[in-house]
Amino acid sequence: MSNRVAGKVALVTGAASGIGFAVAFMLAREGARVVATDIDEEAAKKVAAGIEGEGAEALGLRLDVAREEDWRTAMDETMKRFGRLDVLVNNAGVALAKSVLETSLNEWRGIMSINLDGVFLGTRYGIEAMAPGGGGSIVNMSSVYGMVGGLGVAAYCASKGGVRVFTKAAALECAELNNNVRVNSVHPGFIETSMVNDVIRESANPEALRKGIEYQMALKRMGEPSDVAAAVLYLASDESRFCTGSELVVDGGMLAR
Ligand SMILES: NC(=O)c1ccc[n+]([C@@H]2O[C@H](COP(=O)([O-])OP(=O)(O)OC[C@H]3O[C@@H](n4cnc5c(N)ncnc54)[C@H](O)[C@@H]3O)[C@@H](O)[C@H]2O)c1
Repeated sequence: MSNRVAGKVALVTGAASGIGFAVAFMLAREGARVVATDIDEEAAKKVAAGIEGEGAEALGLRLDVAREEDWRTAMDETMKRFGRLDVLVNNAGVALAKSVLETSLNEWRGIMSINLDGVFLGTRYGIEAMAPGGGGSIVNMSSVYGMVGGLGVAAYCASKGGVRVFTKAAALECAELNNNVRVNSVHPGFIETSMVNDVIRESANPEALRKGIEYQMALKRMGEPSDVAAAVLYLASDESRFCTGSELVVDGGMLAR
């Protein structure tokens, strides 16, 4: 532990699983007090208990990122417990492995409400909470599929492309307001989490799909959640103080071709 985010208060969405789980623990191990949130309240509380078991301070809360009232409550609870917010990781997201022709309007709206409305609401409430405390860092989880198209994941690509450019617009606004809030996006390639494993398991030929995914990565393997958490840690810390509106790709070389 080197205390790279010592003294900071960090809220992580979708912290019960995969990348969010790794981010919550990594930030705590580097000195942050962590608000671990998820749509699954029990699981969020378990993460917070696990972090406290390691000797750091944590709070576990239910937060459905698509519900504005949940954001209000989460910010109130964070202020009550810790009195400030320095880092917000808008990580929660869902995938939909369907082509344009297979996607219903309801499914499209469902993806947008979590992946895009969730990031908008978080950024909005995050800026409001951070600015009075002297600023902070917002990290929005996009994807390589926010930069290029993927076959059979059109709605997901649209949502993640939205996160990418929304992040830049919000960063410009914060810079203009001179509020010391930085906003950046992270773009993982395929990472070994339940999101990817579920898509593989439910596919017609899981073995071939896994091989195909691994082949797309120049490093010939999927990443680990901690590979992405390390990028988030950098953007959360003051080491990245000159980065805003930037996009950090963590993709095993997938987009290098
Ligand atoms: N795994 C990958 O290969 C990959 C690649 C690029 C980007 N991402 C992005 O990383 C983020 C995390 O993905 P992951 O792979 O860890 O997925 P995951 O499925 O392992 O975890 C997602 C978490 O988000 C929670 N969640 C779902 N809907 C929610 C909601 N409405 N409000 C709050 N929490 C909610 C789930 O309960 C779960 O704990 C997502 O935004 C995803 O799009 C993942």
